[in-house]
Amino acid sequence: MNWEGKVAVVTGAASGIGESAATEFAQEGAATAIMDINVDRGMQVADHLKTMGLRAAFFRLDVADRAACSFVLKQVAAMWGRVDYLVNSAVSFIGKGKDFSTEDWERCLGVNVRGTANMAQACYPYMSLAGGGAIVNISSISAHSAQPDRWTYNATKGAVASMTKCQALDLAAYNIRVNSLSPGWTWTPEVAKAADGDRAKWEPIWGQYSILRRLGEPREIARAILFLCSDDASFITGTELAVDGGYTALGSEGHGASSSFAGTA
Ligand SMILES: NC(=O)c1ccc[n+]([C@@H]2O[C@H](COP(=O)([O-])OP(=O)(O)OC[C@H]3O[C@@H](n4cnc5c(N)ncnc54)[C@H](O)[C@@H]3O)[C@@H](O)[C@H]2O)c1
Repeated sequence: MNWEGKVAVVTGAASGIGESAATEFAQEGAATAIMDINVDRGMQVADHLKTMGLRAAFFRLDVADRAACSFVLKQVAAMWGRVDYLVNSAVSFIGKGKDFSTEDWERCLGVNVRGTANMAQACYPYMSLAGGGAIVNISSISAHSAQPDRWTYNATKGAVASMTKCQALDLAAYNIRVNSLSPGWTWTPEVAKAADGDRAKWEPIWGQYSILRRLGEPREIARAILFLCSDDASFITGTELAVDGGYTALGSEGHGASSSFAGTA
């Protein structure tokens, strides 16, 4: 696919999966809007891409602020004349169980759910003017699995997967496809923080949760995002793509059952 002349908008693009998706779009030739609440890091990412001769610009944005989403999209359209793709990767990782506060819920819902909606609302008129487009909402394995102390985060990821279907239905009239992508455990700064930076210790533990027995790389998620935006995915909308090394396929029997019952089926 030729991405030259296309414009991609990526939220949460200062780090992790969003940063990797933005990098892939820019390297493929699309003009790429790096949107994030983290100004220093977001500018670093955009500057790095620009020094490579790629088309990128940073926009400071809190996706929970609906008016701000609309404002930055106007700036993108003024700068590059169109919008073709949106990736919603920005996230609040507030994962609280029974001891949540109202503020925890407000922030988690505001960024993960309303932020995802805000960005689609802000982008779709420009995509429509461009003749169509594609949106990828980043959900999670957490949308589908019980995890301890995670009422907030997991609920919002379930909402993202569910809302994606409604967005796909409503935006099809504008030739816009909308899908969600559900990553498994991926080695991003947030996960590195949870592991105290000790990948050698935690990869064998977290890796056991998936068929491939390892963590994902941000670029592996990013390439799947670009696939969903590409013309190769022209008949794919309203669905969720698991990019999780087989986490959701593995189920509760884990790796043990197949060897203990080998030959009996
Ligand atoms: N890393 C994993 O293992 C994993 C697994 C499943 C799903 N995911 C999902 O992938 C996506 C990216 O996760 P990641 O691990 O790359 O995270 P990350 O922490 O590396 O990056 C998230 C980015 O979002 C930005 N952000 C936070 N609040 C924002 C706001 N209000 N407005 C704009 N930007 C904001 C942060 O500044 C950060 O740059 C998330 O949606 C997450 O739920 C990640």
